[in-house]
This record gives sequence, C-alpha cells and structure tokens, in this order.
Amino acid sequence: MTNFVWHNPVKLVFGKGTIAELPNLIPAGTKIMLAYGGGSIKANGVYDQARAALAAYDITEFGGIEPNPRYETCMKAAAIVKQNGIGFLLAVGGGSVLDATKFIAVAALYDAGDPWDIMEGRKPVERALPLATVLTLPATGSETNTFAVISRDATGEKLAFGSPHVYPQFAILDPETTRSLPLRQVENGIIDTWAHVMEQYMCATDHSALTLRQSEAVLKTLIELAPKVKADPADYTTRAELMWCATVGLNGSLGLGAAAQDWATHMIGHELTALYGIDHGRTLAVIMPAVHRFQITRKQPRLAQCAARVWHITQGDDATRAAQAIEREQAFFQSVGVPTTLSAYNIDAADAARQVAARLAARNAKLGEYGDLGEDEVRAIIALAQ
Ligand code: NZQ
Ligand code: ZN
Repeated sequence: MTNFVWHNPVKLVFGKGTIAELPNLIPAGTKIMLAYGGGSIKANGVYDQARAALAAYDITEFGGIEPNPRYETCMKAAAIVKQNGIGFLLAVGGGSVLDATKFIAVAALYDAGDPWDIMEGRKPVERALPLATVLTLPATGSETNTFAVISRDATGEKLAFGSPHVYPQFAILDPETTRSLPLRQVENGIIDTWAHVMEQYMCATDHSALTLRQSEAVLKTLIELAPKVKADPADYTTRAELMWCATVGLNGSLGLGAAAQDWATHMIGHELTALYGIDHGRTLAVIMPAVHRFQITRKQPRLAQCAARVWHITQGDDATRAAQAIEREQAFFQSVGVPTTLSAYNIDAADAARQVAARLAARNAKLGEYGDLGEDEVRAIIALAQ
C-alpha cells in the first residue's frame, strides 16, 4: 500500500428536492453565472427549480455549452464573466457543462496569455473563481473531482487538465433530475463509471486491499443496477444508486493506496471522440476490453481477482480466469446496449490505429500504469478493438 494524502473538499448535497438548498449554499448578494447546455434543463424543470431557489440573486445566464465542451464557447463565457464582475459560477447540467465551467472559472482570472496553455500543460493553474454544480447526469464524477476535459475546434484536440482550484464548492445531486435522460446517456454513464473504477483498479501495481474491495463493490453494484434501470427507468432508488456510484467512481477515493493508475483507455478514447465524434462512454466500451487483452499477462493477478470477486468465476487457473474476466466485461458492456467494436461505428481499425497513435506520439504520451505504452502499443491495442 502506497502513501497518500487525500483532501476532497466538495460538499455533497444528495437526494430529492435538494435544488431548493441553493440559497443556503451560496452567500447572499453573490453575482452568479448560471451555465447550462443545450436546453435539457429547461425541458425537465431543473432550470425552473434553480431559478426559483435563486430568485434573490443577480444572475447572468450562459447557455449553449456543447457535449464535449469547446474552448471557443468557454472563452465567450469567460469574457462575459469578466465584463459583468461575476463572482460565482453555477454549472447546471451534465459533465460537459461542469467541465466547461471549471475551465471558464480559470480562464476568467487568467492573465498570463492564452488559457489553452493550461490544457497543454505548459502553464499551471494558480487560481479560479469559486464554482459549484447541480448535476443532472451521473457519469463523469466531475462533481467531486479536480478534472475537466475541453475540446478545441482550431486544432481538433480534446485535452484534460486537473487542479484543486476547480473543485466545486458543493455539488447538488438530485436523482430525480436524471429521469429525463435519454437511454443512450444512461448507458454512457454506466460505462463511464465502470471505466473510471477499472482505470484505478485494474493495475499491475501495489494497491490497498480495502480500496480494491471498495472498487469491487461499485462494479458489482453497477452489474445489478444496469438491467434494473432499463427495466424500470422511473425507479427512484435505482437512479439514486447509479448517481452515487458515478460520484464514488471518480471522487479520488478509489485510487487511494495505489502505486499508479492506468488511464490508457481514457487517453485513447478521448482521441476517438476528437477524431470520430463518438460519445465518451462509447469509446471506452470499445477500447477497455482491448487494453485489458493487450496486457493480460501483466494484469493477470488483478484480472483473476476481478473474475473471482466480481464475476464469481472460481474454476480454472489464473490465466483462464483472467481471460474470462475480460469476456464478461465485454459482454456486460453489450448487455448495457453499447457496442464494443470500432466496426460497429463503421470505423476502419487500421485507420484509427494510425491516426490515434500518431496524435498521442506527437504529444509524447506514454500510457498505462507504467507509462510504457507508446505508439506501437497503442496501434496494437486499437487493432484488438476492430
Ligand atoms: O446539453 P443538454 O441540453 O443539457 O443535454 C445533455 C447532452 O446532450 C444531456 N443531458 C444531461 N443531463 C440531462 C440530459 N438530457 C436529459 N435529461 C438530463 N437530466 O446529455 C447529453 C450529454 O451530456 P454531457 O454533459 O456531454 O455528458 P457527460 O456527463 O457524460 O459528460 C461528458 C464529458 O465529460 C468528459 C468527457 O470527455 C466529455 O467531454 N469527462 C470528464 C471527466 C471529468 N471531468 O472528470 C472524466 C470523464 O472521463 C470524461 O472524460
Ligand atoms: Zn470517463
């Protein structure tokens, strides 16, 4: 078990009717920007609830943040924040709205040139405006973490940054807001949560026995919930448990005690979204089984552990059980309703392998828990996903 420091300061306000708590969470007199996406919050009543709760506040709205939020849109919002002297950003929507809001919070105070430099890792984040969220889509874990993923039209890049300065001050999670999600987004959220757990769990490195069991608990809960949410999408308890899983999946706790984390699937997945426009969660369903197959030998002990504890496979030696864990993972993604091959998206694997590997190599990216998966290995992984 490796040393760690963990400080997650996000106040989580979870449950039915919690949007009404907003005035108890934001100081009176604060000038707020209410950021949102393409209009789902207006259709499902979340906007009305937030505006009613914040009736006494001076609010500037900024709508139209896209899925896979664009730098160009964020920069427009940052200019409005500066012009209007806004002191607090409230993201109401999914992970994209929240990630954009994190970037806007940094960009609005940034005076050292182009804030895109932060995305490319050339400049540190030194400060950000305070922000918070009313989250309507359980998937990214962005509500209790330091990360944001932003895309840029001019370069076709999709990059991530992380900084403690962009921890939300609070996150309101009302599971009732998720009832209006299209099935595709529910599916994406289940896969994304699974993948976040696995990126921290399925590593051929030292880890904490307790943290591993906590990860297995999330995986097993997702396996139980996936058919339930499809059979009865209106059930509150299922929605609430899914939302809690997504938060735990990437609030930092499941990496505690681990010597390293994988994240190769996410790095490749982000490139597939940038190149082909595939939803984030769907890229992970294609790539994660391939990443695990490519490294089946060195990940064998953890894969076999997953087979036994998550899938209850007790027969066979470690090699057999490791292979079965990957097969079950892939079958689970398919049962959720998400394709696991590039050909399902009419994408030529050889073309994808060439382009993704070249883009990652141009950034000198070395993936995986050992940081040793380079251009050749990425090409080989993508070939396994055809
Ligand atoms: O834009 P609106 O109209 O709000 O519609 C959204 C959007 O079309 C809709 N939606 C959200 N909540 C809804 C709803 N529709 C009906 N009812 C609701 N309650 O869903 C669509 C997708 O929303 P989006 O925010 O894009 O989805 P998600 O939360 O999956 O976020 C994906 C983004 O997060 C990044 C991804 O790369 C991608 O850009 N990630 C962020 C991470 C982080 N910050 O830690 C980690 C993840 O690995 C991921 O990379
Ligand atoms: Zn993800």
